[in-house]
Amino acid sequence: MRKKVIAGNWKMNNNLSGAVELISGIKNGLADFEPQADMIICPPYISLETAAALIKDTPIKLGAQNMYFEDSGAYTGEVSAEMLKSVGCEYVILGHSERRTIFNESDETINKKVKKALAGGLKPIFCIGETLEERESGVTNKVVEKQVRDGLQDISESDLANVIVAYEPVWAIGTGKTATPEQAQEVHEFIRNLIKELYSENAAQNLVIQYGGSVKPANAKELLSQNDIDGALVGGACLQPDSFLDIVKSS
Ligand code: 13P
Repeated sequence: MRKKVIAGNWKMNNNLSGAVELISGIKNGLADFEPQADMIICPPYISLETAAALIKDTPIKLGAQNMYFEDSGAYTGEVSAEMLKSVGCEYVILGHSERRTIFNESDETINKKVKKALAGGLKPIFCIGETLEERESGVTNKVVEKQVRDGLQDISESDLANVIVAYEPVWAIGTGKTATPEQAQEVHEFIRNLIKELYSENAAQNLVIQYGGSVKPANAKELLSQNDIDGALVGGACLQPDSFLDIVKSS
């Protein structure tokens, strides 16, 4: 049985004091129950080091929201895998649809980032998902397949064991429109079968596939009870300690 993994993608929210407040709230809430799921928080870069100190000796793990694929050099505004490791990150979100659309990241760029993250000892949360137009024209599986094949190109099976895949239909992100559990399950199953084809049955069975897109306490349980949904990548609902923890409790 795969353990559920709930990750909070804070996106561009919370300054340093806001981050301290949110993490303190989550820690206080954890005093009341024993989480059955793994928990990851992904604050903006500026709060990572403080977050790492605050979550020390708790079950909460730390991730960043992006990184660049070079080691160092003249890349103004970017951070490397090694830098993220140095402030205590274990995970990094890569290929989020906001990076793909607003910042023009291609499958090729994302593949370079995934490889570099793995080489640097970070675990990528590799995001994929179709737009509304793609879903309505019936090409969801085709789009997702290309993102998986290109994004994971030349990643070995042993490295894949450190990758989490997050299926986030673009039309469900920040819109309040969640995929139905059946719609999400169908794509998750497709992704797992594809991984079986590209790697092995074992790799497919062990892969954690998160769902993301308007996950909230009210819909988390039903989504997380699907066979191939192994967790959630939560945006808006992770910005309040109670709603984040309620999603963790649904696992
Ligand atoms: P929302 O939960 O706000 O829809 O965001 C989902 C997401 O993009 C997480 O990465």
